[in-house]
Amino acid sequence: MTGSVRRVAIVAAMPEELGALLRAMSPGQVVQRAGRSFHLGHWCGHEVVAVLSRIGKVAAATTTTLLLSEFGVDRVLFTGVAGGLGDGVRVGDVVVADALLQHDMDASPLFPRFELPGLGLDRLWADADLVKLAGQAATEVLAEAALHGLIEATPRVHQGLVVSGDIFVDTTAESAALRLALPEALAVEMEGAALAQVCHDFGVPFAVIRTISDRADDAAHVDFQRFVLEVASRYSLAVVRAMLERLPP
Ligand code: ADE
Repeated sequence: MTGSVRRVAIVAAMPEELGALLRAMSPGQVVQRAGRSFHLGHWCGHEVVAVLSRIGKVAAATTTTLLLSEFGVDRVLFTGVAGGLGDGVRVGDVVVADALLQHDMDASPLFPRFELPGLGLDRLWADADLVKLAGQAATEVLAEAALHGLIEATPRVHQGLVVSGDIFVDTTAESAALRLALPEALAVEMEGAALAQVCHDFGVPFAVIRTISDRADDAAHVDFQRFVLEVASRYSLAVVRAMLERLPP
């Protein structure tokens, strides 16, 4: 499957986020592996493979391992939604991760809290060039009048730490605890740091772009449902397309 083709992988955790992307790509082969459908095609001058990772760190790690070992992927873009943690990170904003951390990794006292045993790291850094492109793409998308009216306030693009864990954070107490432990965290989600760890192991550049769907608080469930249904797919499509248009071959 790898051959000599180099592909850009586009990954999302939820069907709502991937659906519009799949419709925009030129249709090609669909390859089944481990219960996932890997959609091969072309988009904006790139060979791409788009896949639904499913939700959670193990699902994201399995998907990323398959992408990197079987599909000739040389860059990985993850797009989806996240809960806002940082002050001023509001519903409708976009967070581009410059680093990712697993907030539920705790092998203490053997290793410091959050450290990935064997790696000697807690944060995994996204590719600086992809981060810059993602920031430019998201800024362009948020400026587009077509998206105005879908969001509650003037949206902003943030860049910084995104934390991942196998928990949908939907109480104010949980998000306060996370903010206390990791004050610099801008957003929380359930896949990015796992994808980052696999990309780190394989030495493949990646970026994680998250639209804020909720504030990871007692209202998160309500905000989340509405946001994913009404906005997430449009955001994912527009930001990834704007990135691919800028991405060197
Ligand atoms: N993805 C979107 N919102 C989230 C939240 N509140 N917690 C974890 N993952 C999320």
